[in-house]
Amino acid sequence: MVLELPFEMEFILSLTYRCNLNCSMCTQYGDGFKQNAPQDMTLEQWENFFESVSDVNPKPKMLLMGGEPLLYKDFERLFELTQKHGFNVQIVTNGVLLDKYLAQIAKTDTTITISLDGLEHTHDTIRNKPGTFKKVMQNIDKIEAYQKQGSKIKLCINCVMLPDNVDELSEFLEFIQKKNIHTLTFQHLQFSSQELNKHTNTQWQQRLNKPYAGGLIPPKQYKIDKQYVNKLAAAIEKLKDVCKTTAYVFPALEDEEIENYYLDKDLDTIRAGRICTTPWVNPTIHSNGDVSNCIGNIIGNINREDFWAIWNNEKANNLRHALCKYGKFTLCAKCCNFYKGNFIYAPNTLLTVNNKLLSLPDEINYIKSSKNGVFILDKYRDKTINNATPVIPLETFTPASVQKLKNTETIIAMFSELKGA
Ligand SMILES: C[S@@+](CC[C@H](N)C(=O)[O-])C[C@H]1O[C@@H](n2cnc3c(N)ncnc32)[C@H](O)[C@@H]1O
Ligand code: SF4
Ligand code: SF4
Repeated sequence: MVLELPFEMEFILSLTYRCNLNCSMCTQYGDGFKQNAPQDMTLEQWENFFESVSDVNPKPKMLLMGGEPLLYKDFERLFELTQKHGFNVQIVTNGVLLDKYLAQIAKTDTTITISLDGLEHTHDTIRNKPGTFKKVMQNIDKIEAYQKQGSKIKLCINCVMLPDNVDELSEFLEFIQKKNIHTLTFQHLQFSSQELNKHTNTQWQQRLNKPYAGGLIPPKQYKIDKQYVNKLAAAIEKLKDVCKTTAYVFPALEDEEIENYYLDKDLDTIRAGRICTTPWVNPTIHSNGDVSNCIGNIIGNINREDFWAIWNNEKANNLRHALCKYGKFTLCAKCCNFYKGNFIYAPNTLLTVNNKLLSLPDEINYIKSSKNGVFILDKYRDKTINNATPVIPLETFTPASVQKLKNTETIIAMFSELKGA
């Protein structure tokens, strides 16, 4: 029987936590939780999981991540399985090993996101391995060659903005936008501190009655002060002058948010009243089968229990209820997931729980209804570098089951009523 869901789920599959690089900003290799999941699952274990989430409408999206996902020992066969089940796949990779698998991937419409953090010297310094940039660029050329032969693979680039590359972001954009790139993302550095993690631990104890597992601390200690924030803001501004492609800054921090984000100031006031949708729609499956619905919140293991039983169990719901009851954790303002859901799902099944999530009507920019629920894009939806109009098609965020656009006023009225309820 097909399971009808009110939203499209996006799974993050951390196929392995092993990596062939050792990047200085990578939180997985700082004070991360990867150490808790050292073992990789077998292909058979992944196949059992795929079976359990295959008959779902809309079909879930699978984000293949890691560590370095291409180091998973049976990657070729695993990828084959994702295609057999018809999942929409995105691979996030450092790009070094891509040539080994490109012939196979190029036969599909998979999105390949390659991490590239600057021009040659800068990239290789951040990634701590000389020759990485050259290898990645060769693989990008191979992707373009497949595209010229008719392949539907899409190439995205993700660049983490750091003190190490802030001076050459525009130069990098000018260089890389000559390639056939679907979208280019300039990502803000995610980072926590021992102090913030301690505070998070207190909040977890109070709200969830358990310790916070820690994480989000990069191995390299960056000097981040007001001067850096100003420099970064100016560099982002400059990107607008050279940008000729579809590029985003993610999270799309507002001018008044960027300083607080970087200097850990008044984090609770950032987008107050809003909570992240990850615990509802973005399960992470770790390399050993552990499932989490928020950083470090392990709620079960798919090798011992069915995924859906885990996703609806007490541990999963405790976190959802805590978010609805107390609002976001202070740490959420430093977590990209908080900004990822630039939309609010208000499906019937979640309305009572999610009542507090609803934006004020004047913050609502776009509303779509589907047979399974209502989708609201709020004022914080992604912005491109050049303007405030989202160029990611709205359909990216909506399930295949979206049928018709309802009259906006009717829905706003409906939601105003519900807010008061
Ligand atoms: C953790 S990596 C895993 C996939 C693969 N190994 C790679 O590098 O693309 C996923 C993405 O997170 C980015 N990343 C790593 N550390 C980050 C941080 N502290 N803040 C923001 N993004 C980060 C990487 O550059 C990459 O684009
Ligand atoms: S960012 Fe990716 S390539 Fe770099 S250390 Fe982390 S997992 Fe490995
Ligand atoms: S934003 Fe907050 S609730 Fe969401 S995944 Fe991050 S830490 Fe968890």
